[in-house]
Amino acid sequence: MSPPAEYEKEKQLALFIQEAFEREFERFAPFAVSREVRLSPNQRADMVVTTGGGDVLVIEFKKLTEFRNRFLGRKSQWSELKKAARNLSPEAKANFYQFLTAVEAGMTDKVVEAERTLKELIETADVKREAIDVTLPGRRPRRGHLHPITVVREKIEDIFVSLGYAIEDGREIETDFYNFDALNIPENHPARASQDTFYTSDGYALRSQTSTVQIHAMQRRGAPVRMIAPGRVFRRDTPDPTHNPMFFQVEGLCVDRGISMAHLKGTVAEFLRRMFGEQTVTRFRPSYFPFTEPSAEFDFSCFKCGGAGCRICKNSGWIELGGSGMVHPNVLRGAGVDPEEFSGFAFGLGIDRMVGLMYGLDDIRLLFENDVRFLEQFD
Ligand code: DAH
Repeated sequence: MSPPAEYEKEKQLALFIQEAFEREFERFAPFAVSREVRLSPNQRADMVVTTGGGDVLVIEFKKLTEFRNRFLGRKSQWSELKKAARNLSPEAKANFYQFLTAVEAGMTDKVVEAERTLKELIETADVKREAIDVTLPGRRPRRGHLHPITVVREKIEDIFVSLGYAIEDGREIETDFYNFDALNIPENHPARASQDTFYTSDGYALRSQTSTVQIHAMQRRGAPVRMIAPGRVFRRDTPDPTHNPMFFQVEGLCVDRGISMAHLKGTVAEFLRRMFGEQTVTRFRPSYFPFTEPSAEFDFSCFKCGGAGCRICKNSGWIELGGSGMVHPNVLRGAGVDPEEFSGFAFGLGIDRMVGLMYGLDDIRLLFENDVRFLEQFD
């Protein structure tokens, strides 16, 4: 037996460090795969998953570098130990160095192996992350579609544009003048009560009818004029299945020399034929509106039963749609058009009502609740 070495204490310390190294290296042990047993691509992919993915692996790699520096770096205890060996006798120094080198090689090998495997795995994770499986079905963006009121409004617009009408925008906030006075509805006229609307404190009101646009159009364009004005109107109505405080109308106005009731009837009849089919029959009933004289309401033969009577037309065979008439001379005059030279007709109808009829809605409030389960049906 050889006598206890001169460097026994240092050797013990070296073994102690090695032991601590082994203990701490445990967490990296799964990555310490020797070069000979290279992992297959599948094994690598599996390992990426079981170890927690690319981000975890990057952190692990940083920890391994930190571990290596702590145990084997320039400022490590191990490096101190190597320096201390310089003071040994030449023979002992040679032996001790040999011992240290062998232990160090063992530790370094393990770290290098783990580093290499970790690098491979990080690469695998990156490739996986960037891979696109072109055989997977695409993710379709949810496609929207037009609201049923817009669909019907655009259809009405198309028909009138093809008849030579312009489309007017108008405004939703109005003065009493445009909403009432200019339409031959003076203060205290009973028609004001039936079209009660919402007022601001400074004399404005939300328009209760699109007829207001007749006045703006004549003031701006003069005569002759042919226009329709689709848009929102407002009334102080309590919502119920057939009423909303906000709804949509379309106004029509045609002013020229020699315009008669025949033009009105022909235009409305043609519009309804294009809207609901060739066989549609139109009917006019005498009525009263302050801004027209004479006035008429118009109905059309039920698009569902063709006039035989059904649920939609309440067994009458007819569907009431709107009001119309020859523009009152007072209205023409008030808007700067000479009633001696020009005459015209006007009409107005509710779009929501039309949508409700066409799609058989029991409750037109559904149109404004923005429930996609309802709206989706109109795609
Ligand atoms: N403005 C009327 C309403 O809201 C509808 C109307 C009737 C419009 C006759 C017209 C018309 O242009 O001539 O009830």
